[in-house]
Amino acid sequence: MDRVLGIVGAGKLGTTLGLAASDADWQVLMCDIAPAEVVAMIVETMVPQAQLVSLPELVARADIVMLAVPFGLSGQLDYSLLDGKVVLDPMNNWPAVDGDVAELHGWTGSTTALIAARNPKMRIVKTLNHLGYNDYAADARSREVANRRAVAVAADDRGAGELVAQLVDDIGFDPVPVGLDKAKLLEPDGPVFGRWLDAASMRQLLLVSAAGSGSDRR
Ligand SMILES: NC(=O)c1ccc[n+]([C@@H]2O[C@H](COP(=O)([O-])OP(=O)(O)OC[C@H]3O[C@@H](n4cnc5c(N)ncnc54)[C@H](OP(=O)(O)O)[C@@H]3O)[C@@H](O)[C@H]2O)c1
Repeated sequence: MDRVLGIVGAGKLGTTLGLAASDADWQVLMCDIAPAEVVAMIVETMVPQAQLVSLPELVARADIVMLAVPFGLSGQLDYSLLDGKVVLDPMNNWPAVDGDVAELHGWTGSTTALIAARNPKMRIVKTLNHLGYNDYAADARSREVANRRAVAVAADDRGAGELVAQLVDDIGFDPVPVGLDKAKLLEPDGPVFGRWLDAASMRQLLLVSAAGSGSDRR
C-alpha cells in the first residue's frame, strides 16, 4: 500500500472508485463538503478502508488528487493548493445537474482544458469520466483477462499519465494513453463516451476521430 489516492467528493463516482482503489491496495483518502457526520457515515459504509481527512491534508498526502465533484461546483475548489500535484479530472458537464456554467460561454475546448487553466501548475490527467460509476464495479477484470474494457487516460505530463494509468490498470481496466488534446473526445457526445470498447478499438476510434474535428485545438 505505497500509493495514495485522494478523492475530493464522496458521491457516486468518488465512493465507487475509492472502493475499487482500496480493494486494489491503494491507500484512499477522502474529503467532502457535506456535514462531517454525514460524510463519515458515507465513507465508513461505502469505502471502509478509506480515511476521511481535510482537503489540505488530502492534497499534501496524495500521489493523485481526484476531483470527483459536480463540474458546475468545481470552480469553488481551492486550486492554489494543487501546485505540482497530479490531478485526475473525471468530471463531465451535465447541464441538467450543473446548470448554466458561465465559464463555458464561448468555450470550445474540453472542460478539462478549462479546469487546467484554473492552475497551470497542476499535472492534469483526464480519465475515468467516460464510463458510468456502476460500470467501474461491474466491468472490472483482473490483469490476466485478455481485452478488458478500456479507459482512456489523457495527459501531456508523461509521469502523471503513467501513474494514473497504473491506477486504471489496478482497478481492472486497460488504460489507453493519449495526449490531453484528445480530452474532448472522451466527454459526453464524444465517440467513446459510454461505450464498451477494448483498448485496440478505442485507440483506433480516437485516432480516426482526432483526424476529424472532435479534439481540442489550442
Ligand atoms: N456518476 C457517474 O456515473 C459519473 C461517471 C463519470 C464521471 N462522473 C463525474 O464525476 C463527478 C461526480 O459525479 P457523482 O455522480 O459522483 O456526483 P455526486 O454523487 O453528486 O457526488 C458529488 C459529491 O461531491 C461533493 N462536493 C460538492 N462540492 C464539493 C467541494 N467543493 N468539495 C468537496 N466535495 C464537494 C458533494 O457533496 P454534497 O452532496 O454535500 O453537495 C457530493 O458528495 C461529476 O463531475 C460527474 O460528471 C460521474
